[in-house]
Amino acid sequence: MKILAIETSCDETAAAVVEDGRQLLSNVVATQIEIHRRFGGVFPEVASRQHVLAIDPVVRQALAQAGVASPRALDAVAVTQGPGLAGSLLVGVNAAKGLAFTAGLPLLGVNHLEGHIYSNWLRTGAGFGDSARAAAEDIFPTLVLIVSGGHTEILCMTGHGRYERMGGTLDDAAGEAFDKVARLLELGYPGGPAIEQAAAQGDAQRFALPRALRHDAAHRFDFSFSGLKTAVLNLTRRLAAEDGAAGHAVAAAANDIAASFQAAVADVLVEKLALAAQAADARQVCICGGVSANSALRLAAQARFDELGIPLMIPPLFLCTDNAAMIGAAAYFGAQAGRARGDGLALDVIPSLSLE
Ligand code: KG4
Ligand code: ZN
Repeated sequence: MKILAIETSCDETAAAVVEDGRQLLSNVVATQIEIHRRFGGVFPEVASRQHVLAIDPVVRQALAQAGVASPRALDAVAVTQGPGLAGSLLVGVNAAKGLAFTAGLPLLGVNHLEGHIYSNWLRTGAGFGDSARAAAEDIFPTLVLIVSGGHTEILCMTGHGRYERMGGTLDDAAGEAFDKVARLLELGYPGGPAIEQAAAQGDAQRFALPRALRHDAAHRFDFSFSGLKTAVLNLTRRLAAEDGAAGHAVAAAANDIAASFQAAVADVLVEKLALAAQAADARQVCICGGVSANSALRLAAQARFDELGIPLMIPPLFLCTDNAAMIGAAAYFGAQAGRARGDGLALDVIPSLSLE
């Protein structure tokens, strides 16, 4: 089953052709990072206009790279329906409708978060899709941590498309915290990669930053990152005050602050994920979403789950951030489980779509 997938929920215009939910035939991502850099974040109006310009060439490229001469050679068109920015989602959904209608193909709406989860099922030479376990029946319960710019959630996956939420952030998403702290430290945009780069030259032990909700029995699997962000803000203010007129102290300490912040985030994510995996008696653990590209998080998680003897899956870097291949994978497994949203041309965007 060959699916053309389209993803435009935020600031990446992406299209991919995926076969049987695992095989990447093409995966094209046109990023708008340079365009949004001057705003220090995603500017929604600009994003949707840019999607309008990029969607047609991106889809054509995805079809050409996959060797698909005509959309009629496909079996379905899948598109991200939400969550995301309404104006951005609309561009992808309308393009998908046009393609599906003219080629007489079924149109499948996909939840962006489910896409991130299924990024772990794609065969890339490095991920879950490559292991024998992927095809086996005994992979559930699978514990999932979604860490992106808008979401930080721990879910217990009891079967394909079946999710039980165990916990999540009470305030900021982890990616949001990376972006805000990068702005505070004037490290640039996007914040995650900027923090990671600065942290590579910093001392993670220099500043003791808070690990929230660590001993809170009512929030064993929940996170809070707003206090951490405030702690970094207070730290920069204190350093600036001590510095007096010179004003170099924050810049001079930026690498150490970035490293200490990154360690604090990785610590709580891994600690709570490990607790949840044990509580759910998980057969395996998957981490996904933009922040899963972070090497400190990847290393800390690998070390912890090796210790626990629980297999851990994290997608290769190019599938951690937004892409359409993951949407094609999720659409396939959804259709296999008979959960395809058959709304056809009535399919609408749902900016606040959740997983349950
Ligand atoms: O999944 P994603 O591409 O988009 C959403 O669905 O939100 O995630 C984007 C988020 C941003 O907050 C970005 O700063 C963060 O992922 N991110 C990272 C890294 N790469 C991207 N955070 C930490 N370290 C990274 N290397
Ligand atoms: Zn995403």
